[in-house]
Amino acid sequence: ASTLGAAAAQSGRYFGTAIAANKLSDSTYATIANREFTMITAENEMKWDATEPSQNSFSYGRGDQIATWARNNGKQVRGHALLWHAQMPGWAQNLSGTALRTAAINHVTKVATYYRGKIHTWDVVNEAFADGGSGGRRDSSLQRTGNDWIEAAFRAARAADPNAKLCYNDYNTDGINAKSTGIYAMVRDFKSRGVPIDCVGLQSHLGTTIPSDYQANIQRFADLGVDVQITELDVEQGGNQANIYQTVTRACLAVARCTGITVWGVRDNDSWRTGANPLLFDSSGNKKVAYTSVLNALNAA
Ligand code: G3I
Repeated sequence: ASTLGAAAAQSGRYFGTAIAANKLSDSTYATIANREFTMITAENEMKWDATEPSQNSFSYGRGDQIATWARNNGKQVRGHALLWHAQMPGWAQNLSGTALRTAAINHVTKVATYYRGKIHTWDVVNEAFADGGSGGRRDSSLQRTGNDWIEAAFRAARAADPNAKLCYNDYNTDGINAKSTGIYAMVRDFKSRGVPIDCVGLQSHLGTTIPSDYQANIQRFADLGVDVQITELDVEQGGNQANIYQTVTRACLAVARCTGITVWGVRDNDSWRTGANPLLFDSSGNKKVAYTSVLNALNAA
């Protein structure tokens, strides 16, 4: 196959990208996005600050712009993200305790209900684990409402949209380390107690190296009985960029429950990582060597 989406589909997988609503009017951008990708994540437009700018008053215009573009072009949508300690609206940043918990669960319920039937997978909770060696939760106002806030969010999301897959999503979880092991323990606990979780997202914002146990880490999550997706892939440009992209692609293809890969933007100049040139298309929209390495890996599966 000659596009990333079609090549991934040969093994039943998707290949996605993050999209910014205000770039859809850029024809180079929209043409590449439409041609290559089959799963769309809103880069910012479905986050809490965007969708609930004042309490219990919802704003779906920019999220809908992306969801509608995706539907009109035959693509699926990954909802990102219902709860995250970052990009919380100002009003929610001023809440704590029971008031914050109630507001957070209301947010999950309202947004997942609004988008019911239109979202393939929700990132229900994003980046709730701490960096470093603790393997524990990140300190945040949400965490201080009680350790059960994550499972409460997953239960609310399931009730609101029973057909959406529900994912936990995080970064620096790309190898077997304290942080990914903490998440692994949470997922195992959720599965054993019937907390509704369907998948784990490994963001994979990578530098110039990749952990040697990248595939083993995907495999151990899959072995818990959840799907795994690579959700925000980008790789710093350097001698190894194409190889690292290829290693990620092959690792996902090697694990039956790794169901798709999303890159975090279209062209290098669309990336949040200024100067890293971490994506598959250069700033003029040309395919990079890394693009070819991914396409070839997908076609070899
Ligand atoms: O839209 C406003 C604009 O009106 C304003 O003038 C400008 C001034 O700062 O800011 C613009 O908003 C920015 C927004 O991106 C849109 O470009 C925000 O400041 C900026 O903080 C925001 O950054 C986003 C970041 O999440 C926020 O934490 C990035 O685009 C987005 O790529 C990034 O994505 C995250 C994932 O959601 C979660 N995982 C990590 C990943 C990378 O940080």
